[in-house]
Amino acid sequence: MTLQRTLSIIKPDAVKKNVIGQILSRFEGAGLRIVATKMMTLSRQEAGEFYAVHQSRPFFGELVDYMTTGPVVVSVLEGADAINLNRKLMGATDPKKAEAGTIRADFADSISANAVHGSDGPETAKTEVAFFFPNLK
Ligand code: CMP
Repeated sequence: MTLQRTLSIIKPDAVKKNVIGQILSRFEGAGLRIVATKMMTLSRQEAGEFYAVHQSRPFFGELVDYMTTGPVVVSVLEGADAINLNRKLMGATDPKKAEAGTIRADFADSISANAVHGSDGPETAKTEVAFFFPNLK
C-alpha cells in the first residue's frame, strides 16, 4: 500500500463544539500521522477558491458563508491509503446518511455544517495540500 497524503479540515461547527482533539485522535488512532496542521479563519476569497469546483452548485454561497463563520483546523494526514481511510473515518457527506461511529455521525449537525472535509481523490489531495501548505516538503 502506498503512502499517501490527504487534506483534512475540521470545520467551524466542530471547532465550536470543542472536539478538535477528539477528531485528531481518531486520525491518529487509525494510523494516520499529522504532518502539518494550523488553525485559521478563512476569508471569503480563500473559501471560494478552495471550493471553486463547486462554484456552479446551488449550495456554493451557503458553503462559503458557513466556512467563514469561525476558525477551522486544516491538517495534512499521511499514511497508507490515507485518502480513503480518512473518507471512511469521516462517513457520508450528509450526516443523516453517515454510518454509526464515523466523525460526521458523531459530531456533524447538517450537510453544510458537517464537521470535517477530506480530499476525495489523489489529484484533489495534491491540489488541496498545496493550497494550504505550499512549502510542505
Ligand atoms: P465537503 O466535503 O467539505 O465538500 C463540499 C461541501 O459542500 C460538503 O462537504 C458539504 O458540507 C457542502 N454541501 C452543502 N450542501 C450540499 C449538498 N446539497 N450536497 C453536497 N454537499 C453540500
